[in-house]
Amino acid sequence: MSAKAGRTFRQLLADRMSKQGLYDSPRYWDMKAASYEGLARSIWPSNTYNRHWDARQRTIVDSVLGDVDGKRVADVACGTGRLSRHFAARGARVTGLDFAPETLAAAERETRAAGLAVDYRTWNVLEPPPDALVGAFDLVFTISCLAMACADVPTFDRALAHLVSITRPGGRLLLLEPIHRSRLLRRILPLGVEAWIEHAARAGLVLARRGGMGFVPARLALAWRDLPDALVGPAFDAGERLLDLAPSLEPLADYKWLLFERPGAPSPRAAG
Ligand SMILES: C[S@@+](CC[C@H](N)C(=O)[O-])C[C@H]1O[C@@H](n2cnc3c(N)ncnc32)[C@H](O)[C@@H]1O
Repeated sequence: MSAKAGRTFRQLLADRMSKQGLYDSPRYWDMKAASYEGLARSIWPSNTYNRHWDARQRTIVDSVLGDVDGKRVADVACGTGRLSRHFAARGARVTGLDFAPETLAAAERETRAAGLAVDYRTWNVLEPPPDALVGAFDLVFTISCLAMACADVPTFDRALAHLVSITRPGGRLLLLEPIHRSRLLRRILPLGVEAWIEHAARAGLVLARRGGMGFVPARLALAWRDLPDALVGPAFDAGERLLDLAPSLEPLADYKWLLFERPGAPSPRAAG
């Protein structure tokens, strides 16, 4: 575990048992941002595991999204801003949005310290976006947001509609989320990946590409406490290789990534 004490195993277990009313509350994420250090503020308790997880997610977004230089990008549920900074460093004009104020303050501090510029704003994805955000982004993405923020299907549809509305016509939306129906693996929303795609289609999105990451057996064994990297690194890599080689193993991918396009031509104002 990192220098700050973090959560005990009992606390983590209690969190999991009462995840609804917890993962969907800004207080929980602010508490997490205050209790941990580094990547553990936004991801798993083990920072050894997180280094591999973070690198894998960056590789996926880079290869799926390509060049983002000059693009207007919204990182929805940005947490402490690890991916906001990644996109800003690659030349994107990034807006980081989250509903947890202390978490956003930590993102601001870290981004300033890295000498990068990100426009951080408070927004709850379940609320209609402010006018300034509507149609404003070439690319909108979430990492680990909707599966926790949405308790049921009507709420999910509402959040999706908000994400579509901030994506410009002709723009793209990437969802990288823990998508599961099973009680064991789902976070809050009990909906499988095919249903996510179906609801996105009803919201006007066209699926362009999909994939998975985060091999569940490795994640269950390695994410909770810092184990030697000589064990964590090879086990993590082997799991990810398996997922890449065998798409039929998708149910064993903790996270699924879904890249959508919002059809339509950009308006002249949005074309820059
Ligand atoms: C697991 S963290 C992921 C943070 C970041 N995307 C990352 O991958 O590093 C989940 C984030 O979602 C945010 N979140 C949860 N529900 C939200 C909502 N309804 N609106 C906006 N942000 C929300 C939390 O505050 C938290 O920062």
